[in-house]
Amino acid sequence: MAGNVAYLKKRTEPEQPKALDVNEVRSILARNETSTLLRFSTAGSVDDGKSTLIGRLLHDSKSIYEDTLESLQKKAKAKGTAVDLSLVTDGLKAEQEQGITIDVAYRYFSTPKRRFILADTPGHEQYTRNMATGASTADLTIILIDARKGVITQTKRHSFIASLLGVPRLLVAINKMDLVDYSEKVFDLIRADYTAFASKLGIREVRFVPISALQGDNIVERSERMLWYHGETVLEYLENVYVSSDTNQVDFRYPVQYVIRPNQNYRGYAGQIRSGGIKVGEEVIVLPSMRRSKVKSIDTMGHAGKPHSLDSAHAPLSVCIALEDELDISRGDMLVRPGNMPTIQHHLEAMIVWMNETPMDPTRSYILMHTSRETKAIIDKIDYKVDVNSLSRNPGGPLSLNEIGRVGLTTKLPLFYDSYTRNRSTGNFILVDSENFLTVGAGLIIDRHSQDELTNHPSESHPKREIHREAGSITRADRETRFGAKAVTFWCTGLSGSGKSTIAKALEEKLFRDGKPVYRLDGDNLRFGLNQDLGFSKEDRAENIRRAAEVAKLFNDAGVTVICSLISPLAADREMARQIIGEDSFLEIHLSTPLSTCEERDPHGLYRKARAGEIKEFTGITAPYEAPLKPTLELDTAMLSLEECIERLYSTLLELESE
Ligand code: ADX
Repeated sequence: MAGNVAYLKKRTEPEQPKALDVNEVRSILARNETSTLLRFSTAGSVDDGKSTLIGRLLHDSKSIYEDTLESLQKKAKAKGTAVDLSLVTDGLKAEQEQGITIDVAYRYFSTPKRRFILADTPGHEQYTRNMATGASTADLTIILIDARKGVITQTKRHSFIASLLGVPRLLVAINKMDLVDYSEKVFDLIRADYTAFASKLGIREVRFVPISALQGDNIVERSERMLWYHGETVLEYLENVYVSSDTNQVDFRYPVQYVIRPNQNYRGYAGQIRSGGIKVGEEVIVLPSMRRSKVKSIDTMGHAGKPHSLDSAHAPLSVCIALEDELDISRGDMLVRPGNMPTIQHHLEAMIVWMNETPMDPTRSYILMHTSRETKAIIDKIDYKVDVNSLSRNPGGPLSLNEIGRVGLTTKLPLFYDSYTRNRSTGNFILVDSENFLTVGAGLIIDRHSQDELTNHPSESHPKREIHREAGSITRADRETRFGAKAVTFWCTGLSGSGKSTIAKALEEKLFRDGKPVYRLDGDNLRFGLNQDLGFSKEDRAENIRRAAEVAKLFNDAGVTVICSLISPLAADREMARQIIGEDSFLEIHLSTPLSTCEERDPHGLYRKARAGEIKEFTGITAPYEAPLKPTLELDTAMLSLEECIERLYSTLLELESE
């Protein structure tokens, strides 16, 4: 991340970066470690309450620095008012204004669960510039909607830009719920409205949370005033969302940021691995010289701040790489693998978001900044502009403020790039005005072979590969008609030993004998294959459930009824499963067998081990279980026989089929 900060700040640095001593580089590297990091940004219109939300998040999660809070409290006391949380972030505004050329202030904060970098974009909310710059490196963007206003053009514009930038997740925070009487109906309407628009964008994951930033509802603590909402709070979502798969781990791209030469015996190249990974001993090619060498060593910072050598390293780690041969390498060069080269070209095609009041001028040159490389660029052609409301293309001239269009550019020096759909980190660039050093545009590089970057835009694709949705002609309804049965998912949740697997097996047998296509997904079984990389932390359980839900959805699409048996202890994770599978197909079955009975049964001796401290985070003992508030069906296997349970499940299904 510090790599990105450096990237933005670079224009204020002298041409030749000053020599850094090893300790400085080490501390840069230490700061760069991004293991449990979530990068997010915010977007909203003026007065949507962005500053208040951020202030509230920092305040309620106790992330705020005590001294800042104290001074705010003093101010409030003097005025006899409540603490104005927007002042917390307005402090950042001042910081940012001193920076002049920096559009984004990075706010670092942490909770015991995760570290966060918030790309905060204070001031000038009417411009998309800040929003886009912040979002370009974000794992997720919070889109704020004023509950009284609903989805407006600015919401759509920000969402479109976020999708263009490949932000994989959006958290739509419907704010000011206090001003609409905490109405579930208002929330549902806005959610439906937004979903209709967002379905055209194909963002991978969109979540909705009703909040009041001012009152603190659903920011950190669950709101008492919206009991109808069972999902996560904003902070819970930020803490739990699974992001590690977002980096391209295939294509090794290592832009050199600094050359390190502490003594005659060592010459290393410091930077951040933007994607892929590399091992000691592997061959690399240096771009643009095309010279080859082998990796001699890879160094990074350990947790205690001590450097250590690695055998291999992966994105997004910041490292210092030394090569076996003495080559002439400088900042802006890139190390890659011989068999896996980026495009090396003076020309590129891109979607550009224009961010300056002065419209684009195709008669002049701009500075193009791409990874750690910087060169002059001219605009050759403007193919079209995009209308963000209808997502249609219109012919047009140079882009004006906030406009988005497809553009061709030629650069003075060659660039080493990938399309944005393949590689977010080497597929984006910014354009800077060479006179005043303001960022005027942000660009996403398009694969020229791609036919339609609007419908097949990056967010629909996995970063590792270019993939496009291919709709077949056979629908789920066709399959259901053929099989003569509606495909649904029975989601059995409950403590270990509550009877989930037993019931799932018996129900599967019954439906199978009835001639219905049916398949069982058992949490334990999935953990032998698909989910073998996951443990029992909150994050891993969430991912476990997400994957199971995705698989269940595929089966349902194929016309097959699914019986899932997963502990799925948290309401928010089950809510996620419901959203993935779809409200109409999701039957939540709560196995409410009391803990004491489950523990007595202890089929695999796990409770005993958990009590002895041999198993950590064991549900019911040392990890929580949140019972569903409104399950489709509740079955207590301490009271009911297996036959009774199956009968109830079966009649639930019949009822559903007769609807
Ligand atoms: S879930 O919480 O992520 O939904 P899942 O249903 O996949 O859990 O797996 C639960 C099974 O893993 C249990 O039936 C038990 O056999 C086993 N297990 C091992 N460790 C734990 C643990 N710490 N907590 C709960 N179950 C565990």
